[in-house]
Parts: sequence; C-alpha cells; structure tokens
Amino acid sequence: MFKEQIDKTRVPQHVAIIMDGNGRWAKERGLDRIFGHKEGAAAFSDVTEAAVEIGVKYLTAYAFSTENWNRPQAEVEALMSLLVSTIEKETEKLLKNDIRLCCIGDIKRLPKPVFDKLNGCLERTAHCKRMTIILALSYSSKWEILEAVKNIANDVKDNKLSAEKIDDELFSSYLNTKNFPDPDLLIRTSGETRISNFLLWQIAYSELYFTNTNWPDFRKEQFFEAICDYQKRERRFGKTSEQLKTEI
Ligand code: FPP
Repeated sequence: MFKEQIDKTRVPQHVAIIMDGNGRWAKERGLDRIFGHKEGAAAFSDVTEAAVEIGVKYLTAYAFSTENWNRPQAEVEALMSLLVSTIEKETEKLLKNDIRLCCIGDIKRLPKPVFDKLNGCLERTAHCKRMTIILALSYSSKWEILEAVKNIANDVKDNKLSAEKIDDELFSSYLNTKNFPDPDLLIRTSGETRISNFLLWQIAYSELYFTNTNWPDFRKEQFFEAICDYQKRERRFGKTSEQLKTEI
C-alpha cells in the first residue's frame, strides 16, 4: 500500500536504522530474548529487500554497540553466533543481488571466528555495486570520533597535516564512514526516542523517524511507510523555505 505512494525520484540515498525492541518483542511472547534477535535478523533481511526494491543506495544498521559488550555473556555469545549464521545464510544472496557488505566499528574486538567470517563476506562482496549494507558492529559514535581526533592529532604532530586545514570535510575523512554519504533518514524502532551513541556527527542534518513498532515487526510495509513520511518533509539545511524554492 505505502510502496505505491513512494516518489521514486526522491528516495533517500542513505537510510540508517537503530533496530531496537528485539528483547521486548520476545518477552511479550514469553520467549527468550535471543528469539527476538533471530526474528530481528529476519526483519533486517526483509528491510534490505525493500530498500533494494526502491533504489536506496546505502543501508546502515546498528547491529551491536560498544555498550552491548556489557550485556550478559550468554546474550553476547548468542548475538555473535547469530551474526555468523546470518552471514553464512545471506552471503550468496548478497552476491546474487549485487549488494556490498561493509562494516563500521571496532571490529578487532570481535571473537576471531566471527571476525574471519565477516571479513570473508566483506572481501567477497567488495565488487558489488547495487547497494551497500553497512553493519555497525562494536560501534559507538563517541569511540569513532575520539579515534578520528587521535589520528588527526598524530598527523598534525608528524607534520602530515596543518591544523588550519581541519574542516568539516577533513574531519569526515577520518571517520569510519569516510566512504559513505551522510544518512538522509534515521529510523529508530520500539518507541525509544534516543540516538544512543549512533552516527552523532553524520546525522547532523538527517531526518529522524521514530516508531513504536518493535524491530522484529518492522517489515517491508513499515519501511515503505517510513519512506513516505520522509518524503513529506522539507529538508532546509538551515535555509528558508523561500530560498529553497528559488534554487530549483
Ligand atoms: C536491540 O534490541 C537489538 C540489538 C542489540 C541487536 C540487533 C541485532 C539484530 C537485529 C539481529 C542481527 C542482525 C544482523 C544484521 C545480523 P534490544 O535487545 O535492545 O531490545 P530491548 O530494548 O527490547 O531489550
């Protein structure tokens, strides 16, 4: 229903998603939290298909935050094995659909078998062009920004960079996301209206969309609904409505 209402000429180039509410979805059904995560992985597969169907070029998903390392060990382990099984299950599909997998975050912290599996998929899909999925794993925005600051400080100290050259573009080029445009739309599910340390620099001018739906229930139709909502917005980037009209 919502898909037909989408203006194909104004599809967001980059959609980022905070996939929240897996635990609550499971609890409501009297299930262990991991079932929520499993259903969440299925929802992500659905949303990926939906994004490809309408021509989104970049889809970023917050799959595991730096703070998630502090969850009970059994849940962390279950999430790691879900990541491995999802990669095993989806790699051929990614290749068939010309979808590239990329990663942001401190992935060196991942257990070696997970890191190796992930790396294999990153390498195998590196040539794909239709869409890029960016998984945020062991990611937090403050970590990413501090890493950038340290690297910039070192480059200034080593005379590779002059401090006067530090501007918006240069700073962006030190972030994990340097090869990707900033998100046009950020979606968060489950009714929480927080950013939770996700892409703080990159979402300066993103449109934010919050929905009460828990992530496992966020499927194609809900994604298309979010896109329709986005298309109703006027993105002014600090300018006035009148200025935008004269620019067209
Ligand atoms: C937040 O729900 C979700 C996570 C911490 C993990 C997200 C992981 C997936 C969707 C599955 C794996 C995905 C891929 C792409 C392999 P929560 O546990 O915080 O839910 P709650 O707030 O209801 O407790």
